[in-house]
Amino acid sequence: MASKLIAPSMLAADFGNLQRDTEMVNNSDADWFHIDVMDGHFVPNISYGMPVIAAIKKHATKPLDVHLMIEKPERYIEEFAKVGADIITVHYESTVHLHRTLRQIKDAGCKAGIVLNITTPLVVLEDILPECYMILLMSINPGFGGQKFEDITYKRVKNLRKMINEQGLDTRIEIDGGVTDKNIQKLVKAGADAFVAGSHIFKSDNPTATIKTLKDLANS
Ligand code: DX5
Ligand code: ZN
Repeated sequence: MASKLIAPSMLAADFGNLQRDTEMVNNSDADWFHIDVMDGHFVPNISYGMPVIAAIKKHATKPLDVHLMIEKPERYIEEFAKVGADIITVHYESTVHLHRTLRQIKDAGCKAGIVLNITTPLVVLEDILPECYMILLMSINPGFGGQKFEDITYKRVKNLRKMINEQGLDTRIEIDGGVTDKNIQKLVKAGADAFVAGSHIFKSDNPTATIKTLKDLANS
């Protein structure tokens, strides 16, 4: 079985010490940097954009997993690729032309994925799954870190894994929001492979050790 992945969310990093926190992730058991882009329209919050991503990329030694919470993401795909995105995920709810946008991400040289809000039915993925490197299931309402994990996610992961298996694919399932050492193993059991964690990591006394615990729990 492929190893389960940990993606610390840089939204919870200390922006005044971005290089320090980037190097902490480099030197940890983490696999990817999770980068949350928010535009104040698709979600009520505004986070950061290209210059900050470029600054992280300058020091990062691991792939950037860029989660776009912006309306009409197709307007900016090439720019995100240019500043160093390795994986780009776009919300199903954010664009009318999902298929075209996924092709655009791949043409820009990145891996492409779709994100679903917590109650968007999984059936919308059925015909587009073969185009996806990864599906990101939100386990909170997007827009803010530090929220409580929604239990409906377990059932959604199980059903999505079943859909992926039925199509004979090996698409990754990533979970984002409220992931901790308390729920990660249950999520693995349900069929998830990659885990975003923001506040649980960066608000802990020893972020490097917290990442190791998550990685070990997910792979035990
Ligand atoms: C929220 C973001 C998440 C967020 C997760 O919209 O997509 O990636 O940073 O933060 P925690 O792990 O604190 O719930
Ligand atoms: Zn995210």
